[in-house]
Formats: sequence, structure tokens, C-alpha cells
Amino acid sequence: MSSSSTELKPHFLEEYTSPLWITPEAKIRFDLDLERTIVRTDYLVEYVGDWEGEALPGVFFHGEGLGFLSLRINGAIAEPLQYHVSEDGLFLRIVPGRSFRLTVENSLSPKHNTALEGLYHSGSMLCTQNEPEGFRKITYSIDRPDNPIRFQVTLSAPKEEFPTLLSNGNLIHSQEWEDGRQEVVWEDPFPKPSYLFAIVAGNLQYRSDQWKTKSGRSIELRIYVEEKNLSKTDFAMFALKEAMRWDEETFGLEYDLDLYMIVAVDDFNMGAMENKGLNLFNSKLVLADKSSATDDTFESILAVVAHEYFHNWTGNRVTLRNWFNLTLKEGLTVFRDQWFTEDKTDPSVKRIKDVLILWEHQFPEDAGPMAHPILPKSYIEMNNFYTVTVYEKGAEVIRMLSHLIGRDTFRKGLQLYLHTYDGQAVTFEEFLSSMEQVSHHSLLQFRNWYHRKGTPTLRVEEKWNPSEGTYQIKIQDSETGELPLVFPIQYALFDQDSKSLDSGLWEMKAVQEEKVWTGLVNKPIFSLLRSYSAPVHLAFERDERELIFLAKQETDGFSKFFAFQKIIFREFRNRWEQNQKNSTSDTIALYKHFIETRETLPKDYLSYLLAFPGLTILADELKVYAFEEIHEIRHKMLQEISSTLRPDLFSVYKENLGSMSSQDRENIGKRRLKNMALSFLFYLPQAKDEVISIALEQQKQANHMSDEIAVLRAFCESSYREKETSIQLFYNKWKADVLSLDLWFSAQVSYGPDALERAQSLVSSSDFNWKNPNRVRSVLSSLARNHLSFHRKDGATYRWLCECLLLLNEINPQIAAQIAKTFQSVRWQDAKRKGLALMALQTVLDFPHLSRDLAEIAGKICKDLENNQS
Ligand code: ARG
Ligand code: ZN
Repeated sequence: MSSSSTELKPHFLEEYTSPLWITPEAKIRFDLDLERTIVRTDYLVEYVGDWEGEALPGVFFHGEGLGFLSLRINGAIAEPLQYHVSEDGLFLRIVPGRSFRLTVENSLSPKHNTALEGLYHSGSMLCTQNEPEGFRKITYSIDRPDNPIRFQVTLSAPKEEFPTLLSNGNLIHSQEWEDGRQEVVWEDPFPKPSYLFAIVAGNLQYRSDQWKTKSGRSIELRIYVEEKNLSKTDFAMFALKEAMRWDEETFGLEYDLDLYMIVAVDDFNMGAMENKGLNLFNSKLVLADKSSATDDTFESILAVVAHEYFHNWTGNRVTLRNWFNLTLKEGLTVFRDQWFTEDKTDPSVKRIKDVLILWEHQFPEDAGPMAHPILPKSYIEMNNFYTVTVYEKGAEVIRMLSHLIGRDTFRKGLQLYLHTYDGQAVTFEEFLSSMEQVSHHSLLQFRNWYHRKGTPTLRVEEKWNPSEGTYQIKIQDSETGELPLVFPIQYALFDQDSKSLDSGLWEMKAVQEEKVWTGLVNKPIFSLLRSYSAPVHLAFERDERELIFLAKQETDGFSKFFAFQKIIFREFRNRWEQNQKNSTSDTIALYKHFIETRETLPKDYLSYLLAFPGLTILADELKVYAFEEIHEIRHKMLQEISSTLRPDLFSVYKENLGSMSSQDRENIGKRRLKNMALSFLFYLPQAKDEVISIALEQQKQANHMSDEIAVLRAFCESSYREKETSIQLFYNKWKADVLSLDLWFSAQVSYGPDALERAQSLVSSSDFNWKNPNRVRSVLSSLARNHLSFHRKDGATYRWLCECLLLLNEINPQIAAQIAKTFQSVRWQDAKRKGLALMALQTVLDFPHLSRDLAEIAGKICKDLENNQS
């Protein structure tokens, strides 16, 4: 248990002060044992405050759940009166001077650590996760990011059980003892905060490769996995080398140690962790082969391997002064990995995927009870602030900056920033001031993006004056508060023949601005927010024909998609409001147009263009959260599209059969387009038998996981009886492969109103494991994202998930909190449902031993529901 809810003390940005004491050197010795590990840490402690008087202030070392054993000061056993050990740390009251050595010994039990923070076990391996504050669960420490430490680590363990012993930096010594123990010493020449410290002990094999840097240094690359998974490491190694090349070419940044290691861990709370020279990864973001990984998995691996690699500069070499500034490293590094993926794949597709994440996850967060600026002003449990806002909106903010100053200047600014602050712990201020220096562009007002929460809405109005030939656009930020923003608006102006009359960047700084074009013969067509240059809602009532024009003629891949989405949203709204003129459907006509002209667009892109928006996005767009009704309209629209386009969909399907199992654009595109067509065909009751047999055949013959999972998902979404056949087929083939089985669990609870019962039976199966985060998320998060089941009228899913939360609270507070966040969306439900959810959450809050993690989330959501009762 990390702590009881009585300690729900918030930390405030305003109260940040720099440390008085630091520990520039640490020598740590681990005597590793699953049941009882002994840690002895020897620090150099230094006073860095500016106090000149006699008695120096004491030093506080964080420590959580540790068994204190002994304390020495400058080698001598400390007097009991000199210090005090409590539940949250060790306080040294009396210090011998401004600089001294402190040696502390403690015990801990990796075996009982199911929270997966600090030192824990996963299968037969021992490993660590320290960001943000896990190091204090390993040893007493000044555990804050502005305390850079040079580490030397000795690992001692029985060789038979743990032949592989790893830590950050370089291996400088290794020795075997007669009693069967092995001892190794690792030293990291780069000072780093404790959150970047890592060790791994296990019985692992590695795939190795070499990287020659631009300046000619040779780096050894290793990916450590269990032996059975060695064959699944090719792609991650490829991704790593691509990332290394890209960072050298784009920013001139080289890797700095001689060894770069990645370790795959099965039980992991998040995606991956950038520990210096020793990245730890959730297995699902490393392991992949053609038969067991989907195209989306491959793309995630590419992005996350690159992301963690890029952190070596943006995060490690230049780190954070405090956790409030998390977005300084995360928003920036996400932007870097997005840019990398745009370069390596199709930039429009990548942009659409990222925007969809923003719409589906970040916009709701920013509108709900957890809304916070990318620079949060306070937190209770920092783990709860690794959010889509800090990460994805943070990346959008950096992207806007790159629009404002241009990518070349941005490049120079990043280089200046890294050069100036190398080895330091800084804030977003230092970053922006470097950007100001290279660009001579004031970012004063831009800084408000770090302080204002919520998604801005831009209202757009146009005026066409045919007699004068002038066209005017007026844009207004609908919020006129104290924090005016800067909006980079990429735009283009087209004439009726699709010729571009003008294009460029409109830097909007006033609450309202306008632009006028003169000397026009016909009314032009304005396209704004090309490539989605600012993360905003757009309120622009415009002629449907212009949207159709843009959907057909825009050359910017995102804007084309955006225009088509708007058309779908409009028709959806009309149907919802039942004022559908029962004439033609522009949506269907465009589907037909895109399918008939399919040769003109890349397949991968087309599959995204044609994907019908999901329930979350539709609800947010309509501001209507009656999911049963939205689902019904959506279903009908999909049926109409499919019936109208039936022959075309069958042709698209057949044309794209027989993709090779490789990861190139053409074959990825073929799979995506074929499976998109298949998902539409499932909406054709008239062709039921044919579709079922095609689908089952595809599942049986598949040579790529994307082709198998597409069928399973389509069946699970349908009400066809044969879904059980598909579920069974998949299970029989993949029951021994944990990562594939996660997809199987998830698919079964992701659709329809009856998923609760299925989830309940799945968690009682022998394949389920409450201690494995991937498995827990595959059922509980998938169920909670299934709006039809989550918001069941009788509140049964709310109640059941709350029971699960209490169970998880004991096992893994971080995962409990992650799942509790899904209750944010209840605020948009009717009063009855809100009441039911509130009652269920109240039982959670009433629980006497609530973790800080869960208490903060459940507390905020309950408060929000109470304030919005009706
Ligand atoms: N720094 C890691 C990354 O984004 C993530 C660490 C997440 N930690 C957490 N407690 N959620 O690459
Ligand atoms: Zn990161």
C-alpha cells in the first residue's frame, strides 16, 4: 500500500524550492534475493544552500516501505539521537558539516512488490521502475529530479538464478565466487537523477547489433529477452537503428555511451522507460513477428523505441527541475517521435492517427474533472499526471512552436537548448528562451499554452462581397480570459478550379483577427488548420458544397480527411435531429467517389479516410451522449453505406487479398484497406452467409496478425452466432502467446451492450491474471471504453468496475488509478446514471486503505459528479 488517504497532501508548483542538500555520488550494493534483498548505499552528501550561520539544517532522505537496518556517518555508526526513521523516510537531524559520507543499509522484498514500482519481480526476473518516485522504494534517497547523481552499482546474486545482471552505463568489473554467487560492477559516467536509475537481474538472452555513429564511434546495441522470444526482436532492433540515424541526421545528436540496452518486461505499468543506457520496455512494445503482431503494433514499436532513444537527449542529458515540468521532456519527445514516424511512414496517415488520439482521449480529459494545463499547478500523486494532456497536448504545443518559427529554426533552437543546458535540470522556460534566442520571435504570449487548460474553440466567419470581389475571414477565440493564446493557423485559399490562390501561416494573437483578400472574381474556398496546426475545436458554419470541394480537392492529407469527417458529422447531426431531408446523402456519395477513384490515393491513407468515426468522437461532436441512440444511427448509416456500395466493397476486398506478410507501405495498405472493406461488409445482413464464410476463411489462412484480429473484431462487433467460432479459433491458435491473447481478451469486451457478463467470465478464467497490467487493461479498460456496456442503464458495470478497483488498489494502485480515470466520462451521462456511478465510486472512497493514486482520481471524479448532479 503506498499510503493512506489521510495523506492526500497536494504538491504545489508555487511551493517549489531548490534542494539544500544533494548527493552527487552514490555507490550502491545490492545483494539480490527475491524474498529479501539487502541494499547498502554510500552517498557523498553536500550542502548547496546559501545559509551562512552555525548549525546547518538537517537532511531528509525519502524512503517508502523499506526495512531500515543501519546508518553510518563518515564511516561511524550514527547515534540514535542524530536521526529519525519514519514511514516516509529518514531524517538526519545533526550533520557533521557541509560535506560528508552517509552509508545506509536497508532490506526490501521484491517478491511482495505487486505495485511494480521500485524493485520488483516479473516472472523470474528482477527489475526496477523508478520514474517518478520509485527510487525511494529501493533505498533512502534525495529522490527528486534536480539532484544529479553519479552512480556506481554492485550487483551480487546467485549465478544460476540470475546469470544476467545489468545496470546503467558500463560494466567495469565482474567476478564469480565459489558459493555460486556472481558479482558485477556497473558505472555510469553521466550524472543522472534517481528516476533514471535501473537494474535488471534475470536469465536473459540478447540480440546484438552495432551502430557506427556519424563521428565514427562504434556502439554495441542489445535487446534482452527471454530465450523463447529472441526471434521477435528484429523489428525493435531495426527501429532502434533508424532512430539513431534520424536523430543524427535531423538534429546532429549522437548517442553518448558505448552500450545501449533494451530489456523486455512482461509486467509493466506503462509503455516503456528511458533509464540511461538501459531502457525497460513493456514486452508488447518490443516483441513482434509477422504472425503475432498487428500493423499497429509494429508502428507502436517503431514510435516507442524511438521515443525512449530520443529521451537520451531530451530528458536525460537535459532533465527536469521538478515533476510539474514533465511535459518539457514528454511533450517534446513525443513531438520528436511523431516527426520521426512522419518521416519513416506516410506523414498524413501519421498525422491523422495522432489527431484521432487527441480527439478521442485528450479532448475529453481536457473537458472533464481531471482537466489540467500541460504544466499542472498541483498534484497529489505524480503517477496520475502521466496524462494524454501532458504527453499529446504537450506535443501539439511543441508542434505549434515549430509552425511559428519554422522547422529549421526549431532544429537550431533545440541544439542550442541541449548545448546550453547539458547536464542540468531545467524548466520549460529555459527551453522557450533558447527558441526565442534563435528565432528572434517573442514567445511571451505563447507561454500561456502552458497555463491554460481546456480545448479552445475558434469561431470562424466568412464574408464574400461579389460586387467588390473581396473575401473576408474572421476568427475569434471564444474564450476571452486572462490567458490569450497564439494560434498558428496554416491555411490555403482555392479558387473554384482547385487552383491555390494563396497559402501560408496565419499567426493569430489577438482574441479576434481578420484577413481580407481582394480582386477576386468568384467566391474562393478557404481551408484552415491544415495538418491540424493547432489543437482546437473549430466552429465554422459553411456551405456543404465547400466541404465536399475540400474533401475532394484538398492536397493536404489531414485537411481532406477533416473535411470528410465534417460532412459525416453534419449528416449524423441531421439524422439525430431528424431533419434529414430524405434526399441524397453526401456521405454516401463521397464514399462512392473515393472508392471509385481509389487508384489516386495511397491505400493506407484511403483506409483512414474511409474509416467511419467511432462513438466517442461522434458523441463529442454532437454533444449528445445517449450512446444507445448514437449507436443506432451509426449502425443504420453503416448499413446504408454498405448496401449502396456493396459491389465496390467486395471488389476492394478481393483486390487486396494476398498481401505479403512484410511491413512495407504497400502491404500494410493492402491489409488495412481490405480489412476496412470487410468491416463494412459485416453491416450487410443480405450478404451474411457470404461474408461469414469469407471472414472465417481469412482468419484461417492469415499470415499476419492484422488479418486475424480484423476478423475477430468484426465478429465481436456483430451479433452473428459464428462469433463464437471465431473466438474459439483464435484462442486455440494463440493461447500460449500472452501478447496475442491480450488482443483476444480485449476484442470480446470492446463492443455491444452485453460485454459486462463476458468480462466477468473472462476474469474468472485461468488465463486471467490480476497482477499483469496488460491483461487487466485488456479486459477492464476495454470494457470501460465500450460505452454501450460501460454506461449500462442499471449501473451494473459501474458497480462491478468499482469492486475491481478495490481489488486492484491492494495489488497495483497505479493500474487501479488508470482504470478509475475511465469514470471521467460519466459526467456527460443523464442524472440517473450519474447517481449510480457516484454511489459505486463512493464505496471506493469509503474504503479505509485507499492508495493515494486511486484516492486522488476517485475523489476528483466524485466531486465533479456531485457538482453536476442534474
Ligand atoms: N518516461 C516514460 C516515457 O514516457 C514513462 C514513465 C511513465 N511513468 C509513470 N509512472 N506512469 O517514456
Ligand atoms: Zn517519454
